[in-house]
Amino acid sequence: MSGRGASVGSRRVRVELGDRSYPIEIGWQNLEGVGDAIKRHTGASQAAVLTVPPVARRHAVRVVRSIRDAGLRAKRFEVPDGERSKSLAQAGKLYDALLEAGAARDTVVVAVGGGVIGDLSGYVAATLLRGLPFVQVPTSLLAMVDSSVGGKTGVNVRQGKNLVGAFHQPRLVWIDAHTLTTLPPRQRSAGMAEVIKHAAIWDARLFARLESEIERVMALEPEVLLPVLERNCQIKAEVVSRDEREAGLRRLLNFGHTLGHAAEALKRYRGLLHGEAVAMGMVYAARRCEAMELCPKGTSDRLSALIERAGLPLELPAFPRKAYLTAVRADKKREDARIHFVALRKIGRAETVPLLPEEIVPAGARIGSGAKRGSGGSG
Ligand SMILES: NC(=O)c1ccc[n+]([C@@H]2O[C@H](COP(=O)([O-])OP(=O)(O)OC[C@H]3O[C@@H](n4cnc5c(N)ncnc54)[C@H](O)[C@@H]3O)[C@@H](O)[C@H]2O)c1
Ligand SMILES: [Zn+2]
Repeated sequence: MSGRGASVGSRRVRVELGDRSYPIEIGWQNLEGVGDAIKRHTGASQAAVLTVPPVARRHAVRVVRSIRDAGLRAKRFEVPDGERSKSLAQAGKLYDALLEAGAARDTVVVAVGGGVIGDLSGYVAATLLRGLPFVQVPTSLLAMVDSSVGGKTGVNVRQGKNLVGAFHQPRLVWIDAHTLTTLPPRQRSAGMAEVIKHAAIWDARLFARLESEIERVMALEPEVLLPVLERNCQIKAEVVSRDEREAGLRRLLNFGHTLGHAAEALKRYRGLLHGEAVAMGMVYAARRCEAMELCPKGTSDRLSALIERAGLPLELPAFPRKAYLTAVRADKKREDARIHFVALRKIGRAETVPLLPEEIVPAGARIGSGAKRGSGGSG
């Protein structure tokens, strides 16, 4: 695979946020260059590289080496893999470890891994010494197209996911798409859910492109993968640039997440990956929009077909309607009784519609495996 990548040029996307603007560099086997870029974009003289065991030896060591080659001191810190590490306890351990290792204002925090280490490291960077420069080196597909861009950082608490956190934009996002070759296939599919989401809400051409070559994207062929990553980062960057703090536009990124979050919560975050839940939530939302005549007939079939080809599940886990209603109510960041439901108007365009939970999950809605087309109720 390495030979093929040589002909694939790297790409750059800029996230425009005034004096906090930053580039996203997207390449293939480009990890050797990350150290120089970190030096240029942060001016730091030492780096704390935070990672998780599945990524440490395969990828993070090369990041550390590149940083040292650029003339900075670098030390690697590992936290246990998994969502449970996105905790205040883990952040506390990192504060101790980094300070003991001499972290100071000249230290850049570098996250190497998926969204978990990205969110946790970003939170540590946002808070340690009242804020240190931060760099993301995402190695999961989800992190590359979603979590590493946009500046949301945080940890989970007993009361819920991502309830403690800060907006802290990275100085640089460095993507080596070749790192995806070691990502487990199920995780690859889960990341594709957010790719499909971006296409569905924002870019009909990207959607069509995925329809013609999603298998080649899934197979990580660099000449089709890199443009898809680039387009996804552009979409996320554009949305974030226009609405950094989720006042409106950024909410569109929650397409599929209302029911997706509900499913995750009902499953107690076990046995279901976030992307899988989002895939099911998008299918549900699209069917619901069709039933409410918000989008043309056939839209949900097109979406389902693509989601299925990405190796993702279509049907939400079976729980009683009441359970979904309760979960949907609990999930909303409450303003009033209505929820900013992200409705698909057609492939490539979405808008938020204020809906009551009862309208999102209407009486008679059949949810769950075994539900047939047209589920989501007829209105
Ligand atoms: N900040 C945001 O805007 C934002 C957006 C979406 C999701 N998130 C958060 O992201 C997290 C999910 O991210 P995720 O799906 O990347 O999960 P994750 O970080 O747990 O990564 C998934 C698994 O893949 C492994 N992995 C990652 N890269 C690998 C590689 N190249 N080779 C082998 N294994 C690899 C990880 O170690 C882990 O086991 C959630 O906590 C979610 O809340 C944040
Ligand atoms: Zn998501």
